[in-house]
Amino acid sequence: MDKDSYLLAGHAPGHPDRHAALSAIFDWWTLRHLDAVGIGPGWRCWEVGAGGPMVARWLAGRVGPTGHVLATDLDVSRLVEAAGPAVEVRRHDVVSDPVPPAAFDLVHARLVLVHLPARERVLRSLAGVLRPGGWLVIEDADPGLQPLACLDGHGPEEALANKVRSAFRVLLTGRGVDLGYGRTLPRRLREAGLTDVAADAYFPVTLPACAELEVATVTVLRDQLVTGGHLAVEEVERHLGNVAAGRLDLAQPPLISAWGRRP
Ligand SMILES: C[S@@+](CC[C@H](N)C(=O)[O-])C[C@H]1O[C@@H](n2cnc3c(N)ncnc32)[C@H](O)[C@@H]1O
Repeated sequence: MDKDSYLLAGHAPGHPDRHAALSAIFDWWTLRHLDAVGIGPGWRCWEVGAGGPMVARWLAGRVGPTGHVLATDLDVSRLVEAAGPAVEVRRHDVVSDPVPPAAFDLVHARLVLVHLPARERVLRSLAGVLRPGGWLVIEDADPGLQPLACLDGHGPEEALANKVRSAFRVLLTGRGVDLGYGRTLPRRLREAGLTDVAADAYFPVTLPACAELEVATVTVLRDQLVTGGHLAVEEVERHLGNVAAGRLDLAQPPLISAWGRRP
């Protein structure tokens, strides 16, 4: 396994879908920011590392028949559901494939750059495909600011959930994820030459979709957590049982949303 490859690639058939859970948790927050930068009819947008179809579909509704949405990802198996007259779905590696030639009104990436060891170069390349006045909106996690799965460390089930989350962070770090990336976004957008930079943050303390995301994530990583010696099989199974029983208030790290425009 390439040490720089995306940790959470693949799906666990029969288990909750990670992309659906991410949408349920974060879309309302994301769409607010995309509205705030003024997205409207005729805009040309690039949704980078789109994952599921929901944000691309929403963008298509906003840009209308005169606009265009390019939605790309390494894995387009869920994204193809968004393909249509206004949405072009393309398999694209944002690290190694050439950037599209278009001058975009909006480029958006959520929970993508944090995973990429080449994130600095990628961010500059995304800023570089904006038309003058175009907006870059980057949203990324900052698990260093809030590392816990259960904020209320009430008993052994919460302690186990926090142990599992801690092991997940070790796997993330091993793939070059920057656990303190989110907080750096405003500075990085300014360093990439953007103006009118601002940022805010949101983190769910407990939501039903956080439990679905937990099951999807832990299920995909089960083998790596165990074979890497981070957790015993029994601990993984007990944690998944605790989540399924609805006994845990599961939180997520803060999602920091930052935006800026090309002068
Ligand atoms: C945590 S998911 C986020 C998905 C979606 N943006 C969201 O917030 O719901 C990260 C996504 O980035 C994609 N990804 C990872 N590395 C990538 C790369 N080098 N180029 C393009 N997409 C990549 C993954 O396939 C995955 O869909």
